This record gives sequence, C-alpha cells and structure tokens, in this order.
Amino acid sequence: MSVSAMDIIVNKVEKSRINQLDPNNIQFGKLYADHMLVAHYENGEWKQAEIVPFDNLSLSPATTFMHYGQAIFEGVKAYKDQDGNPVIFRPYDNWKRMNRSAERMAMPDVPEELFVEGMRQLVELDKAWIPTGDGTSLYIRPFMIATDEFIGVKPAEKFTFLIITSPAGPYYSKPVSIYVQDKYVRAFPGGIGFTKAAGNYGASMYPTMKIREMGYDQILWTDGYEHKYVQEIGTMNVFFVIGDKVITPNTGETILEGVTRDSVITVLRDKGIIVEERPISIDEIVAAYKAGELKEAFGTGTAASISHIAELTYHDNKMVLPNVEQAEISEWVKKELNDIRYGRKEDKHGWIVKA
Ligand code: COI
Repeated sequence: MSVSAMDIIVNKVEKSRINQLDPNNIQFGKLYADHMLVAHYENGEWKQAEIVPFDNLSLSPATTFMHYGQAIFEGVKAYKDQDGNPVIFRPYDNWKRMNRSAERMAMPDVPEELFVEGMRQLVELDKAWIPTGDGTSLYIRPFMIATDEFIGVKPAEKFTFLIITSPAGPYYSKPVSIYVQDKYVRAFPGGIGFTKAAGNYGASMYPTMKIREMGYDQILWTDGYEHKYVQEIGTMNVFFVIGDKVITPNTGETILEGVTRDSVITVLRDKGIIVEERPISIDEIVAAYKAGELKEAFGTGTAASISHIAELTYHDNKMVLPNVEQAEISEWVKKELNDIRYGRKEDKHGWIVKA
C-alpha cells in the first residue's frame, strides 16, 4: 500500500484543547494532542488510514490483544527547529524496529508510508502542541494491537495501528537510583527482549514495584542464565564510563536496539571517544567502582533521553556516582544531541525529518 498525502483522510477537531497545555508544567504522558492516526488491517492488507480527533476506542471485550498480549509500540519525538518548524528525530529507525517487533509477534509489517508519512502529517497538524523549552518535545507513540474478536489462542488476522502524541518534559526529573536485579529476569535468548512488545513492560511491573518499595527508581536487568552480565534498565539502555572509555552492552536477542543508544554511540565516536559494545559483567562494574575508575553511568531512551544514574546498588555494594556537574561525557552528549534535535547544530547523519 502506498499512503500518499492524499490517501490519509483527515477529520479535524472542531475546537482544539490546546489551552489545557501549561508550558511551565509539562508532565510525561498525561495530556494528549488533539488528533490521532488510525489504520486497520484486514484480509491481508492495510485499509484507508485516517487522522481523527483523539478519542476512546470502542472494542469488543473479546479483542485478542487484551487476552494474549499481541501488542507492540514505539517511542519517537518531535521538536521545533530554530525557525519554529516541526521536525521528527529518526522516525525511519523506529519504523524499522517496529517491523522487527511485528515479525516476532506475528503481526503485519507497517508500511513505511503509513508509519512515517502518517506521523509526519499528524505532527504537522498538531504542531501547536510541540513545546519549545529545552528538554521538551512532542512524544509520539505509534502502536499496533491485534483486534480479532476471538478468545481462542492463535495468531490474529485483524490489527489496528495507531499513533497518538503527547507533549513531554523530562521523563525523570532527577538522576535515578538503580537496583541491579538478580532474581527476576526480563529476557532470554529466543524470547522477545529485543522487541517493544507490551508484555516486556507488563512483566517488569512487579519487580519494579518491589524495588520502588525499597526506594529505588529503576531496575538494571542482568542476563537470565547467570545474572552476571548487565542488559538494560527498565525504560532505557545503559552506558558506563570506565576510565576514558564508554561501555554499553551489545544488543542481540535480549536487549532493545535503542535509537537514542545508537545516536549516543555515533556522536561519541564522531568526537573520537572510544565506545565499546560488548558484554559487561556486574563484577567488572563493581571492580571499576572500587578502583575509582567508574566515572559515570547513564541511561538512554527516547522518553528518558539521557538520564544520569546517581547510584547503583548490587547486593551490599552501593555505588554512588559523581553529580551531574562532574558527568562530563553524558552532559556533553546530552547537549550535542539536543543541539541536533533543536536545529542548533548541523544534522550530519540525516536524522532530522521535516514534519
Ligand atoms: C521510550 O523511551 O520511548 C519508551 O518507549 C520507554 C518507556 C517510556 C516505555
């Protein structure tokens, strides 16, 4: 299917709700822009996509995804450049990842035109909702759900793809404290750890609730075989600055291929900083901390952007990291990426797509 500008039906709101947006108090995921995109898949093909007023969905209680979790999503962000024009950061990379998730979850490919062109038109229509303060953006949430009305267990045949958007400030308002998890497991080889399947997040709720009760913000997951190698944080990929090198776990079957992760690696390497993508054990991190070599740790994600880690706890080892002011590498990378996103610096890698 080709979704040209002509192909998407647009049904605009009669009255915008933009007056609900307080630019000085933007919380993540609380308020949604005026419109959303909806497209249905049936009989082996995508039907007419529509942009309609943001509203509730009407679904049968027997809808497949509610029972068996055939549901995937993405996270993308739109910004305003220096001339006030809306731009989207790396939507093609999210589109590719969405389809890697779709394949593993037995869901149909989302055509590039539907994902990127649909998103572009939606963002252009709701551009008034893109906040302009540093660290703010319009968070874009594309997602797909299986919509057969059938509670037998089988891959669905009907699906709905939607895109909703929400003005966003920082996901974490302060550096996060992390608990290294070695009881529960997020992902195993052969599983769905590399996908953005809804169930990956659903399964993390109980372990996350438990560590929150202990005063931590997020989990750093370890591998399922030995609980030895660190994988990713609940909402982010993870980076460690050890000596003068930056180290991040290599992605594969169990770790999400973060678009922000890739952007961070790229700009660091552009600057000549050594970035190693390899298995990193929790013992190596503890040893580096004890030797005074663990300089910084941070998480990366679309929602979280670059989030400093204030402390990392593994068994009796409470590793307290330097303040943000001393976190030279992650502060530099954060500024560099923001300069590219807001159009203050040349987009050498072709990451910015005009909405
Ligand atoms: C994102 O960073 O966009 C995510 O999807 C992570 C989280 C909010 C679930």
